[in-house]
Amino acid sequence: LVRGVGEADLAGRHVLVSAGGTREPLDPVRFLGNRSSGKQGYALAAAAAARGARVTLLSANVSLPGPAGVDVIPVATALELREAAVKAAPEADVVVMAAAVADFRPAVYATGKIKKVEGEEPAPVALVRNPDILAELSADRTRPGQLVVGFAAETDQVLAHGRAKLARKGCDLLVVNEVGDGKAFGTDTNEAVILGADGSETPVPPGPKEELADAIWDQVVARLG
Ligand code: CTP
Ligand code: CA
Repeated sequence: LVRGVGEADLAGRHVLVSAGGTREPLDPVRFLGNRSSGKQGYALAAAAAARGARVTLLSANVSLPGPAGVDVIPVATALELREAAVKAAPEADVVVMAAAVADFRPAVYATGKIKKVEGEEPAPVALVRNPDILAELSADRTRPGQLVVGFAAETDQVLAHGRAKLARKGCDLLVVNEVGDGKAFGTDTNEAVILGADGSETPVPPGPKEELADAIWDQVVARLG
């Protein structure tokens, strides 16, 4: 994809992107986490900035350089991400939840390191649900015309699960990709279908995450008032 100079179709727009994966602490040295590298969210932020947007990037545990001209806000846990997202969303024309948010967190945080006890098996780890940030942001929009975009990684029945998830979350677009067997996580390429609440279905062929990012912004721009 060749991008010409002056294709600033997001100029004057403020976009909020979340990237990476949350970490839910068990104790001061351990967490429950996931394999998200943050590459897709960072590619989305960089592409939006290149297209003229003001970009706020909520970055959860990503070891990548911040894209030029992007306002990066680091977050660690799902609760921190939720707080930062709820605070920033009312100012955003577009919200893209590319972060892998932990569905559960340990019910108890041990303030001291959990130690082995001689001759004893470990206690099970009790978990509680984290809030669904995407569903909340979709439902609680205050900014007129705001668009909300979600992601879904599915291992099977990708389109059926994607359609159901789009409806459940109440977002405008859902970017669905198939994961498993080394697909998507930590790789530099991605393949996806962008589902629209309006019934649209836009397949994006396998390619760099930068190309998927631009395909997503194309769909967003087409829907912005
Ligand atoms: N998401 C979120 N808050 C959560 C979980 C997920 O905002 N607590 C967002 C993700 O950022 C993503 C979308 O919701 O944009 C879909 O995430 P996914 O894990 O596929 O959806 P879930 O509803 O958690 O469904 P599943 O049980 O398949 O994990
Ligand atoms: Ca989930």
